[in-house]
Amino acid sequence: MELRDLTCFVAVVEEQSFTKAAERLFIAQPPLSRKIQKLEQELGTQLFERGSRPLQTTSAGHFFYQHATKLLANAEEVKSMTKRVGSAERVIRMGFVASLLYGLLPRIIYSYRQQQPQLKVEVVEMSTKDQIQALKEGKIDVGFGRLRISDPAVRRVLLREERLTVAMHSSHPFSQYKQGIFLADIVDEHQFFYPTTPKPNYTTQIQALFSEHGLTTKRGQEARDIQLALGLVAAGEGICIVPEGANAIQLPYVNYVPLMDADAVSPIYLAMRGMDASDDILALFHCIFQVFDQEGIKYDKELSQQFI
Ligand code: BEZ
Repeated sequence: MELRDLTCFVAVVEEQSFTKAAERLFIAQPPLSRKIQKLEQELGTQLFERGSRPLQTTSAGHFFYQHATKLLANAEEVKSMTKRVGSAERVIRMGFVASLLYGLLPRIIYSYRQQQPQLKVEVVEMSTKDQIQALKEGKIDVGFGRLRISDPAVRRVLLREERLTVAMHSSHPFSQYKQGIFLADIVDEHQFFYPTTPKPNYTTQIQALFSEHGLTTKRGQEARDIQLALGLVAAGEGICIVPEGANAIQLPYVNYVPLMDADAVSPIYLAMRGMDASDDILALFHCIFQVFDQEGIKYDKELSQQFI
């Protein structure tokens, strides 16, 4: 059995028709039908229900389809990784969610560039969800995100949990509460949630936090991104929960007040393909932990032992 046989089989299943599958594969229908027949002979079982229209798989065909798609995705992954390893100029592509730019990410990337001058480092902003797909397609090598999205092909490491703060107008009575406030204090406020990218996203995370405390926000409004949300806060329209790194965004009339609930945090994950264990990724971990050490940020030392 060859990969091409799997590609043909998958096309027939997905198109539910030999004619359409042959068009998709740019081949004639008779050789495609022969290929599927040969495959059925080799497997000793029927893969399609005879006479069904549109074409349906048998239970063996359905099982084979699920594994064939995984094998094809794996082959693509191996192909793109091998190309990358063999290319003259080594490139590491990093996906990141925008909010990390206000924290330690720029410093980590800068320091990594200094320490790995032979590497071309490319960075691209994308949602955590898009990072998972981009990792699987070989479009990025690592992804920095905030969501706990599970995928069997992707390995996800929790780097740290960043505390959350509330951005509010300086005229707001809570804006002078230096030691902080609780989620329950702000549940009735007009809040901005960002971004408006497809869910799950950071908005989902913040709303889940309120739910876990048995609180329901009543006056929420979505904003495209953090800059828009903070601009509206500066205009006195409402408040917005942001990771504490965003305190670096200084706008007139915007104060940041810490959230004191123990679980008012946003995790920061590094995701990579499960099969990857390159020296470049190990060096990236080393660099992240160096910055954490310089900043006095606690992290799981055991984690660092796994990679360094
Ligand atoms: C941070 O802002 O703490 C951070 C950002 C990216 C990777 C690790 C940490």
